[in-house]
Amino acid sequence: MLLSSVSLLLWLCQTALAQYSSDDLMSFVTLPDVRAVKFNVHYENRELVSPGYWFVAPYLHIGPDPPSTLYEQYQIGPHIYDSEGRLVWTGSQQFENRNVFDFKVVNSLGPDPHLSMVLQNSWDRNIDTGYGMILTNDYHVQRKLPLRKDLGSFDIHEFNILDDGKTALVTVYLSHEISLEEFGLPKEKTWLESGGYAEIDLNTAEVVQWWDSYGHIPLPETVHYSPYSPVEGHPGWDYVHVNSVDKNEIGDYLISCRFTNTIYLISCMDGNIMWRLGGIYSDFVQDFTFSKQHDAKFVESNGTHHIISFLNNASDEEFNEENMSSSLFVELDTSVKPMTAKAIRRYNRPDHQLSRLRGNTQLLPNDNVFTCWSKEGYISEHAGDGELLMTANFTSPRYSSYRGYKFEFTGRPTAPPDMVASVYGTDETNMVTTFWVSWNGATDVAWWNFYARANEFHDPVFIGKTPRSDFETMYIARGYLDWVSAEAVDANGTILGKSEMHRSKSPDWKSVGYRGKSPIPVDPSTIYQENNGTEGDNAADKSAQKSPDAIDTQTQKTTQVLKHTYDAIRSISGIFSFVLLLCLFFGVMACYMVIRGWRVRLYQRPRTEDGYSDERAHLASPHED
Ligand SMILES: *[C@@H]1O[C@H](CO)[C@@H](O)[C@H](O)[C@H]1NC(C)=O
Ligand SMILES: *[C@@H]1O[C@H](CO)[C@@H](O)[C@H](O)[C@H]1NC(C)=O
Ligand SMILES: *[C@@H]1O[C@H](CO)[C@@H](O)[C@H](O)[C@H]1NC(C)=O
Ligand SMILES: *[C@@H]1O[C@H](CO)[C@@H](O)[C@H](O)[C@H]1NC(C)=O
Ligand SMILES: *[C@@H]1O[C@H](CO)[C@@H](O)[C@H](O)[C@H]1NC(C)=O
Ligand SMILES: *[C@@H]1O[C@H](CO)[C@@H](O)[C@H](O)[C@H]1NC(C)=O
Repeated sequence: MLLSSVSLLLWLCQTALAQYSSDDLMSFVTLPDVRAVKFNVHYENRELVSPGYWFVAPYLHIGPDPPSTLYEQYQIGPHIYDSEGRLVWTGSQQFENRNVFDFKVVNSLGPDPHLSMVLQNSWDRNIDTGYGMILTNDYHVQRKLPLRKDLGSFDIHEFNILDDGKTALVTVYLSHEISLEEFGLPKEKTWLESGGYAEIDLNTAEVVQWWDSYGHIPLPETVHYSPYSPVEGHPGWDYVHVNSVDKNEIGDYLISCRFTNTIYLISCMDGNIMWRLGGIYSDFVQDFTFSKQHDAKFVESNGTHHIISFLNNASDEEFNEENMSSSLFVELDTSVKPMTAKAIRRYNRPDHQLSRLRGNTQLLPNDNVFTCWSKEGYISEHAGDGELLMTANFTSPRYSSYRGYKFEFTGRPTAPPDMVASVYGTDETNMVTTFWVSWNGATDVAWWNFYARANEFHDPVFIGKTPRSDFETMYIARGYLDWVSAEAVDANGTILGKSEMHRSKSPDWKSVGYRGKSPIPVDPSTIYQENNGTEGDNAADKSAQKSPDAIDTQTQKTTQVLKHTYDAIRSISGIFSFVLLLCLFFGVMACYMVIRGWRVRLYQRPRTEDGYSDERAHLASPHED
């Protein structure tokens, strides 16, 4: 028994732990190159939380990374998590670990939900300058929209598909060489980076309308530059830093400019500024203040009365006038003189900190408010009345997500479920087959059914079923099973998809201490015939109690060790026991790896963003300086 445990663990370590290098990232047997970022989740009140999944896009550096010849784990890019922080979809491999921003669900493009996001410009702008991407709910790219060349790179802040499903709003950054006349220095020249928006047609990518702050927002509105600021070359002073754009039913545009602390309404008729909220030249009598705001969006608007939401106090690293960030809903009445602005809802950042950079706020259909405070993926959900319901953040401080959203969503991947099966045993009486299954992006899997065949031409024999436990589910069955497959079943018993037929991996039988000549797969119908048509069970969990004769004691023990080892590896709290196990079997593993050669290359990344000041002025993608 001792020998069998040793060899079992040796073999398990080799397969499951080969990629194991850090505990703040997820790891999967079925997708070994994916190391998705983990969440810490904390619920204050589960009952009031709205249904839905989280849509986030972790990034490490705000600028694109050059390609590397080193092995890279997939962790950057669009991701969907459920409300327990379990992974539902990773698009990291599909989008080659590239930075993605503003990843969310769009419900205006037909009966099925779609996904939209900004794919940041490539590290080499000659390759591409970024796209607005639309995905179907089977995760295929349906549209890949470039921005008109003269409007620069596709900016990362906003890709706002409007409710009619015909056009989208994007933020744009442009450069002009100007004289500093507005600063009283008519003889001095500098480059100025202006901000604006473009509305693009979703079918043709044609620019329907666009607007530039240059000529509309005077230089003295900026709080970021003064007559004493040193002049700059191209692209120049980022004097407004536009970071969101929205449109109401009348057709007027709402833009947020972080470096003027102002939210502007721009007329669709002539491009004139209709009003300014906040900043030095506010047109409103306000009962609140705000600064360094993000994500200004209409909640309601009828021409004279507006309710807008935005993330307030998202101070940056140079200035923070405030000491706590908040999500703010304000009501504007433009029919009176002077116009009035009232704060009608405020949700403070739960940890009372400042959001150093970025963020967004989203009103959910049930009136809850979901906010992404950006750094380290910190998200929260409040009830409409202000009660804090939930907070979560990335376990790893290295990653952030510019925005984060919550939506109900049905994902129906067309790629089949992924599956790995492995066989283990020390003699023919205790053979077990372990299945690992996952289905990247499938939202409604409730159960997994498992099948095996006597050979590839035989009918599948039902082996058993188990509830889906996480992104990846493990199942253990007795016997050396081969030509295996799995079926994903929803809560109603509808089969959603089938994996391909896989061969089970087997260890080097001698080295795991197998007694006798190498085993061969069994005909599953000899041990599972009674199963067909009857309810199956997870052998590891229940068979031991339900049908004591079905599995001999040693197999039971083996399956239990397997399952417990696997669970220990999967859970953070298992790290301690994992370390113990690792120490215990390190010697054996070392010998084994000397023989096989150490294949795992250590993975290293450059400094994280915290060491950078690259966002001092430039969150927009056109600059990475
Ligand atoms: C910043 O947030 C704090 C706390 O939410 C609030 O008291 C303060 O008024 C805000 N200040 C500005 C300028 O918005
Ligand atoms: C806009 O809404 C406000 C408040 O609901 C209402 O008093 C006003 O009459 C509305 N105006 C128009 C033009 O519908
Ligand atoms: C925030 O500022 C207020 C007044 O400006 C001060 O009373 C309070 O202690 C500050 N809070 C923190 C956490 O710094
Ligand atoms: C996440 O939040 C917890 C408290 O909820 C905190 O202890 C931890 O430091 C935070 N981690 C990150 C990466 O922000
Ligand atoms: C067992 O049941 C499955 C479906 O439930 C069926 O496809 C298969 O042919 C059956 N196998 C045998 C050997 O009857
Ligand atoms: C189950 O069936 C019911 C009724 O047909 C349907 O409303 C529900 O959406 C189904 N659930 C799933 C998970 O497919």
